[in-house]
Amino acid sequence: MKIAIVYTSVTGNTEEAMNIIYKYMSRYTSRCNVYQHEHFPLYELDSYDAIIIGTYTWGNGDIPNEMISLYRAFENTSNKDIVTAVFGTGDQCYPHYCGAVDEFRDMLFVHSNLAATLKIELMPQFLDEHRFERFVEVIMERVKNEKGITI
Ligand SMILES: Cc1cc2nc3c(=O)[nH]c(=O)nc-3n(C[C@H](O)[C@H](O)[C@H](O)COP(=O)(O)O)c2cc1C
Repeated sequence: MKIAIVYTSVTGNTEEAMNIIYKYMSRYTSRCNVYQHEHFPLYELDSYDAIIIGTYTWGNGDIPNEMISLYRAFENTSNKDIVTAVFGTGDQCYPHYCGAVDEFRDMLFVHSNLAATLKIELMPQFLDEHRFERFVEVIMERVKNEKGITI
């Protein structure tokens, strides 16, 4: 089983969300690798069973520039069976709350096997824990059921 979390974070909110997701992933598998966006080998995208994307939102509900190449790689992949999920942090003060999660969601729905999305308001709080737990649970159920992988 090959699973990756690929994320970007400037002020640490999305990184903290990633850490919590990684913690819950560890319940299921020790084969989940975490990559900051610039270290993820895009040329290996097709070989993954599941990829979890983490992003903050920039500008006016936009995907940060550094995540565009990953977005394009999914648009161009011939493997539509990769189980995907996207999580992000954002600020409800902006009109397009977590707009980057919505952008990735719409694209991944078409170009992959999208399992789940998760939006977190700024720094994750204790009250968010069950949402993280459920997010990971749904992803791993999808991996198990649709890729026939024992977890
Ligand atoms: C210039 C700027 C524009 C932003 N635009 C949005 C936005 O459109 N929608 C949103 O939900 N959050 C927006 N945010 C808030 C960030 O996405 C939020 O603070 C996020 O948690 C930062 O993630 P990070 O700590 O992982 O870098 C914006 C922040 C800045 C500084």
